[in-house]
Amino acid sequence: MRFDIFTLFPQTFEGVFSVSIVKRAVESGLVSIAVHNIRDYATDKHHLTDDYPYGGGAGMVMKPEPIFAAVEAVLERPETTVFTSKEGKVPIILLSPQGRLFNQKVAEELAQHQRLALICGHYEGIDERVRQYLATDELSIGDYVLTGGEVAAMVVVDAVTRLIPGVLDASSTAEESHAAGLLEYPQYTRPPEFRGHAVPEILLSGHHGAIARWRRQEALRRTLLRRPDLLSRAKLTVEDRELLAHLGREAQAPDKGPLS
Ligand code: ADE
Repeated sequence: MRFDIFTLFPQTFEGVFSVSIVKRAVESGLVSIAVHNIRDYATDKHHLTDDYPYGGGAGMVMKPEPIFAAVEAVLERPETTVFTSKEGKVPIILLSPQGRLFNQKVAEELAQHQRLALICGHYEGIDERVRQYLATDELSIGDYVLTGGEVAAMVVVDAVTRLIPGVLDASSTAEESHAAGLLEYPQYTRPPEFRGHAVPEILLSGHHGAIARWRRQEALRRTLLRRPDLLSRAKLTVEDRELLAHLGREAQAPDKGPLS
């Protein structure tokens, strides 16, 4: 996977991709990340990348010309032609609070591509023609407004990178939160007792079947309590539904004790 990030603040990305899993993915050649300074593509004397909004109003708006020039140069996309590169159609993603909401499903969808271009908006906004005639997708990482799309681009690169085959063990992504539409079950490591708080006995039992059932039950419990909205979209078995009904009754009558 190749990521091309277009930003007015390339220095923001220094360091974030040189630690942990993303660093290893880059070192092993599974991922490459190039950060491009939009300002380098401004052709006027002062290298202007923003201007006053037509119609008036507060703040500045990012100009279209340097953004189009940067993306077209890097993706070798001749002006006004429909873009197909040797990697296939490269999604050109604008990060903005107005985009569709980024989640694990979108991360999985993006991980299927061989190359992604990410444009980081900044200031009060970006000229609408970038959204209309350059970007092929627009993503928001949540219903809040950041000072720019840089942090959002980091989130997308991180979440997509860990889904690329070979970056992590398949088993570690299969069971984690959101992979199957549920939050992940609680995890413990040694010591078996810490400050009087013991690890659930079943995890020390060595009974793999019983442990798998306990984990499923706790994933369902946690999702029901914290993110019940996820349950309507999760893949649930008949047994899961029975467990959920039981957990629901238990929540209404907590003195009945935990599930066996
Ligand atoms: N830029 C500013 N806010 C944003 C958000 N919530 N998601 C993506 N990009 C943004």
